[in-house]
Amino acid sequence: MPITAIKGMTDIFSPEVELWQTIEARARELFESFGYREIRTPIVEKTELFARSIGEDTDIVQKEMYTFPDRKGTMLTLRPEATASIVRAIMQHRLYNIPTMGKFFAIGPMFRYERPQKGRYRQFHQIDAEVIGSKEPIVDAEVMYWAMLFLEKIGIGSTELHINSLGCEECRMPYKRSLVDYLKKYEASFCRDCQRRINTNPLRVFDCKIEKCKEIVKEAPRILEFLCGECQKHFDSVRFFLDQVGCSYTVDHHLVRGLDYYNRTAFEIIASGLGAQNAVGGGGRYDGLFKELGGPDIPAVGFALGVERLMIVLGENLPGHEIKKPDIYLIALGDDAQKTCFLIAQNLRKKSVYVEMGYELKSLKSQMRRADKFGASYVVILGENELVKGVAVLRNMTTKEQFELSLDGIEKTLAEKIKKE
Ligand code: HAM
Repeated sequence: MPITAIKGMTDIFSPEVELWQTIEARARELFESFGYREIRTPIVEKTELFARSIGEDTDIVQKEMYTFPDRKGTMLTLRPEATASIVRAIMQHRLYNIPTMGKFFAIGPMFRYERPQKGRYRQFHQIDAEVIGSKEPIVDAEVMYWAMLFLEKIGIGSTELHINSLGCEECRMPYKRSLVDYLKKYEASFCRDCQRRINTNPLRVFDCKIEKCKEIVKEAPRILEFLCGECQKHFDSVRFFLDQVGCSYTVDHHLVRGLDYYNRTAFEIIASGLGAQNAVGGGGRYDGLFKELGGPDIPAVGFALGVERLMIVLGENLPGHEIKKPDIYLIALGDDAQKTCFLIAQNLRKKSVYVEMGYELKSLKSQMRRADKFGASYVVILGENELVKGVAVLRNMTTKEQFELSLDGIEKTLAEKIKKE
């Protein structure tokens, strides 16, 4: 049996990979306008980092991490998300002391051992952004605006932004009490996991995918009704700034996110056409995470978009995206012609012209067919006769016109012709 890829992990190749490259390039471009700097962290970290930041009682930590001992027995985990690693790196290198380094982005693979289905994979990719050092609601709004603007720019305009506030320690305490009182009334009807969560981490009950549990929590108390004065003010301001930039949103009372580190603002971006996995992105504020991980008290807010889900929503419809076609296809007829063509090809590439050539000495007809398949703009044909005359035939593949070009300085002539078009 030939070896195949691991279930839930996919190969990405042309023509899809060019779409990925375009999406990534557009994200980098937009990050630049907002002043974000890229950060690349390792794909593997100590397990403890994720357990402590994402939360021991979350689905990610309980069931979804790829965890293994290294040769010395240290427990390691393939990153299930980027935030924890970025926070670790910022602390380790004291990047919070550098005034120009408040905004970070990362693009890359994440790993979660989930049951694969449409839009849900075991290796998937995120475009992740984190802004550190400010408690201000204006930053939450700007972070959400980046995400919505990006989606609009790549042609995914029909998404919905859902927002909520998870309050702070102070307002979450009475909320949790009220929530637990409510959940306890239905304890026997909940699934096993939720029965445990009621006592360990009641907010996680909102993440449950089981219909019966989802039905009960619909009528659960709403955290927004428990917000303290400061958290209420923060949430109102976030809404004000979103309104100001014309970013429409829905307040989703039961949006709690699947990770424990959030406080105050939490948000998700929902797209249609994705079935059950309908969130193309999500994020929020995590003011306590640096401290929780033993660092200084640094407020922060961020989000991540799932690239595979963006791809599903986009299909092949990315405005302005096209796969580059060769400027020139070189056809050699005969050994000596091939030697000359080989040189011409490399010289043209030095001048940044995209050149393809037939490496096999096949008939003119079969090489023309291949040039056509590539969609080359021009074909240069060099046979033994042309070689003797010191010329090559240039054929315009659109107009079908052809004429002879002197081999003397042919690279310069061709490069100038291509650049002019
Ligand atoms: P998350 O909601 O777990 O948040 O993931 C963000 C996005 O990644 C999701 O909305 C989804 O599009 C995509 N995603 C998650 N799991 C999968 C999967 N198994 N297959 C395909 N796509 C998936 C976070 O990861 C947070 N770190 C976001 C954040 C950054 N919060 C603050 N800063």
